[in-house]
Amino acid sequence: MPKIAVTRWIPDEAVQVLGEAGEVEISPEDRPLTPEELRKFVAGSAAVVSMLHDRIDGSVADAAGPELKVVANVAVGYDNVDVSALADRGVVVANTPGVLTDATADLAFGLLLAVSRRLGEGERLLRARQPWSFHLGFLLGSGLQGKTLGIVGLGQIGRAVAKRAAAFGMRVVYSGRSAKPDFDGEFVSFDELLRRSDFVSLHCPLTPETRHLVDANALRAMKPSAYLVNTTRGPVVDESALADALEAGEIAGAALDVFEKEPDVEPRLLERDDVVLTPHLGSATVETRTAMAVLAARNVVSVLAGAEPLTEVGR
Ligand code: DGY
Repeated sequence: MPKIAVTRWIPDEAVQVLGEAGEVEISPEDRPLTPEELRKFVAGSAAVVSMLHDRIDGSVADAAGPELKVVANVAVGYDNVDVSALADRGVVVANTPGVLTDATADLAFGLLLAVSRRLGEGERLLRARQPWSFHLGFLLGSGLQGKTLGIVGLGQIGRAVAKRAAAFGMRVVYSGRSAKPDFDGEFVSFDELLRRSDFVSLHCPLTPETRHLVDANALRAMKPSAYLVNTTRGPVVDESALADALEAGEIAGAALDVFEKEPDVEPRLLERDDVVLTPHLGSATVETRTAMAVLAARNVVSVLAGAEPLTEVGR
């Protein structure tokens, strides 16, 4: 039986699927493996089921050895995988698109509401047992109706966020590599999107081109009343520049589910009331995480049976 190395806990449903194709070995650690541990753990594997915190590069493939055929990342993003180094070694890489679209869009919209309606501030005030009473000027936020949402990267998740925005009476503009003729929203340049949007929501993948896409200049281009929401990958935003921009009042607030150096968060952001922070929960529902793991498992089964994966990256 080929060895299938799973770098961290996955739901039983997925373990069962993997069991059809090989001997499943799951890391017993409740933490990301160090690079050295990872190389040791994958030795002799035909398949690796990886998490977004695992750096899967040529050295990991070499440590797995010549049996390695597939890396199935349990995430739609695959910036943690050196796809070309793996392709050079004949290893197929698969991800999990589609199954986490709604969960991630829900969270993006939840964050947008949380930051604009100051939910974190209100909750902290109550938990700190601060005195309060209803009055007309108390903890006022910003409404959504008639506002412009700028979506950076109109993939499946960006579109799902746009659908939610329409239900809230928002106008949608979007930027990206190209206009999408089948989408009912205005295609604009990234600069125009920053200038016009009341909310900017990031949905582009992390690539060398999008690393620090939201830097000091981009933040300065946003309206002082605008909010930034990031549910894609932390390094798309320069976190230190974001803290500077908030301190300078260049934007009104930010809601972040992902961070430049996860699990660390820029300490200045932790201190701010105009920032909402969640620990990478975009796809964190029972249904979605199960679907992601099962899809990754099916990708492994398919490749080990000599077929194409269901969702190979870049296809
Ligand atoms: C992904 O799949 O890329 C997400 O970040 C996980 O929630």
